[in-house]
Amino acid sequence: MSIDKSKILDGKACSQFVKDSLKPRIEALGKKGIVPGLATVLVGDDPASKIYVSNKHKACGDIGIKSYETCLLESTSEAEVVKVVKILNADPKIHGILVQSPLPKRIDAEKVLQVIDPSKDVDGFHPVNLGNLLRGNLADIFVSCTPAGIIYLLKWEKVNLKGLDVVIVNRSNIVGKPLIPLFLKENSTVTVCHTSTKDLAAHTRRADLVVTGISKAKMFTADYFKDGVIIIDVSMNRTENGLCGDVDFDNVIKKASKITPVPGGIGPMTIAMLLVNTVTAAERQSARGL
Ligand code: GUN
Repeated sequence: MSIDKSKILDGKACSQFVKDSLKPRIEALGKKGIVPGLATVLVGDDPASKIYVSNKHKACGDIGIKSYETCLLESTSEAEVVKVVKILNADPKIHGILVQSPLPKRIDAEKVLQVIDPSKDVDGFHPVNLGNLLRGNLADIFVSCTPAGIIYLLKWEKVNLKGLDVVIVNRSNIVGKPLIPLFLKENSTVTVCHTSTKDLAAHTRRADLVVTGISKAKMFTADYFKDGVIIIDVSMNRTENGLCGDVDFDNVIKKASKITPVPGGIGPMTIAMLLVNTVTAAERQSARGL
């Protein structure tokens, strides 16, 4: 089957553009003797999390960001994780801190992320960053990487979001919630669907743009969408036949005007935004003489 490539929202190409645009900023920091530093904290040995973290380290290395890895045993106490974060907060060579989620269930993730210095919170998960985003105070904040990557890719592909009916099928703090103010800022009309939504298809079928993030391989078949829909598929599902998103891509692309592939869509954009946030953190801290 041949795919109409003009419909693909190409996260791989866009992320490369973003990475290239970071090079002069990293060089300028280098002239001041600053190497942007990202610290990751991984607790336990969840295989998927290990892969995500190692991909982030590789992406940092490729463009001249130094990454620092802290791997803690599954049995590590909440107090110890908090202590590690506090040490990273105080370390001037660390500009960004990322605590990989999910944390083991015993640990109160909310408590841990509230300890991260908001000015080093390159994930944008801290209540100060999320709260300022919601209030529209965008100066000096960090926006969560997947939502930021979605908006960046749509703009890069010249999609006009003004007035679009956007349906987001995800209500997490990482994806669904930050997307609400981001789409509102673009003057879209936003609906958020979730597990208790009465008639999901009724919502997605009337949408101009749908964001899916429910980790159910190929669940969204063509009958969930209207002709000309724009689709952003955030999920990365591992199946016997390899990686796929929530959307039945091969059939839905016939109906869509634009669609992200999995892999090669939002995944690379998320990593690219993490790199942007880390370089931005280094620049801000340098401007404050830190
Ligand atoms: N787990 C899944 N996605 C993310 C992310 O963007 N950041 C962190 N810290 N953990 C995650």
